[in-house]
Amino acid sequence: MAGSLAGRTALVTGAAAGIGRAIALAAAREGAALILGDMAENGEKVAEELRDMGAPAIFRRTDIRRRSDVDELLALGKEKLGRVPDILFANAGVEGAISAPWEVPEVDFMRVIETNIVGTWQTMAAVLPAMVKNGKGSIVATSSVAGLVGAGGLAAYVASKHGVVGLVRSVAIDVARLGIRVNAICPGMIETAMVDRLQEAVPEFRSAILALKPMGRLGHPSEAAEAAIWLASDAASFVTGHALAVDGGYGAQ
Ligand SMILES: NC(=O)c1ccc[n+]([C@@H]2O[C@H](COP(=O)([O-])OP(=O)(O)OC[C@H]3O[C@@H](n4cnc5c(N)ncnc54)[C@H](O)[C@@H]3O)[C@@H](O)[C@H]2O)c1
Repeated sequence: MAGSLAGRTALVTGAAAGIGRAIALAAAREGAALILGDMAENGEKVAEELRDMGAPAIFRRTDIRRRSDVDELLALGKEKLGRVPDILFANAGVEGAISAPWEVPEVDFMRVIETNIVGTWQTMAAVLPAMVKNGKGSIVATSSVAGLVGAGGLAAYVASKHGVVGLVRSVAIDVARLGIRVNAICPGMIETAMVDRLQEAVPEFRSAILALKPMGRLGHPSEAAEAAIWLASDAASFVTGHALAVDGGYGAQ
């Protein structure tokens, strides 16, 4: 699939680590220029990695909950790369703590909703006017298998990821005649820092998850990234409003 994003400019949120970093690396390999945003400063290291691969890439510390941050990231992309994104990977997200739904502090519930739903919407809203003007664009949001089915102990996360799927379906309909496609990937458990944090909080987390997995293993960030790259590319030109499970068969049960 090398070159499937040649000449494109992709904005990736949550690009400093895990699935976002893997998406950025795969998009660079496919020929895209990259605009990276993340709350974590080490996103700059990922930008350096991409430039070492020969891909134009910039990073700015960005909190997707703040529209001004996203707008400043876009302005930097325009200034340094001379481009606006025609692809958005709206990937940044947080999991929240594992707990009974009646014990989740409101501030934690709101942080998950504000990041995963409001932040994803905010990022889409920031890039869409230029996509509409140019009559082309592709958005891939990172939902989760928890956006398709329930999971105990993570009420805010599951609600937020179902929200991302709803957002994707709704926006996809709004822009379907404007040359823009909007899809979601719904990864199952992927080996990233997010899983490490959940494992730290609940020592039996990993073994419990593995027991539920038809393939008997977690996914690699690159496995989620490749699905995102395909959805973003012209190879998926008739696919929109879709929530693609990348879950090793978990949802098939
Ligand atoms: N790891 C999994 O098993 C898994 C499964 C399904 C879906 N996901 C989703 O994939 C996405 C990436 O998760 P990951 O596993 O790579 O986790 P991760 O924690 O390794 O990476 C998430 C990145 O997002 C950044 N981020 C968090 N809040 C942000 C904000 N407000 N603004 C900007 N950046 C922010 C973090 O700094 C971090 O670099 C998330 O949306 C997550 O919900 C992960």
